[in-house]
Amino acid sequence: MEYMELREQICDICHKMWQLGWVAANDGNVSAKLADGTFLATPTGISKSFITPEKLVRIDAQGNILEGLEGYRPSSEIKMHLRCYEEREDVGAVLHAHPPAATGYAVAHVPLDEYSMIETVLTLGSVPVTPYGTPSTCEVPDAIAPYLGSHDAVLLANHGALTVGADAITAYYRMETLELFAKISLNAHLLGGAVELSRENIDRLIGMRQGYGVTGRHPGYRHYRSGEEE
Ligand code: 13P
Repeated sequence: MEYMELREQICDICHKMWQLGWVAANDGNVSAKLADGTFLATPTGISKSFITPEKLVRIDAQGNILEGLEGYRPSSEIKMHLRCYEEREDVGAVLHAHPPAATGYAVAHVPLDEYSMIETVLTLGSVPVTPYGTPSTCEVPDAIAPYLGSHDAVLLANHGALTVGADAITAYYRMETLELFAKISLNAHLLGGAVELSRENIDRLIGMRQGYGVTGRHPGYRHYRSGEEE
């Protein structure tokens, strides 16, 4: 993808995040990796509804600014983004937002780990709540790092959600899937609780990932609740 096209795509995603009510004021941030190993990131303190391509900042792997408008600095959460790229060579984009249903689970410390809905079983698998970290500090990257090996979506305790993908659209779609699943789970809870799929059906769905062209990582059958996976 062309450099300017990517800048526009990141802004489109930011606008969608705001339109969908996933962010308020300057909440949320997006970054993407460029072919030369540098990164484009949303600047800190800017509403995602008003963001335009020239406001994005280009940084190196340490977060140093390589290109940016006067006074624009990368997101305060950039350490969290850079850690995702550091941990995973396959990650080309990172999204952080506060979608209200998923963030409800994050603030309640309830993982989205029921294997009840086929789309989510196929794409994300269980979504854990990672330990609390003070925003902008290394506590957050350190808290998420152990989960990144097998998860493309995590809930940040008392904070929000984080998704990664090979590209910006994939990371964005994962946030859509996560938020819709959180809403569905809440509805199912009101109706007496979700009915989980059988082990056999879960295995069949996970085995269909390749055929559906699903990329990224999957935690497998078991939940992260106990810290154990198969
Ligand atoms: P930034 O404006 O620094 O990106 O921070 C927004 C946010 O959501 C912090 O969690």
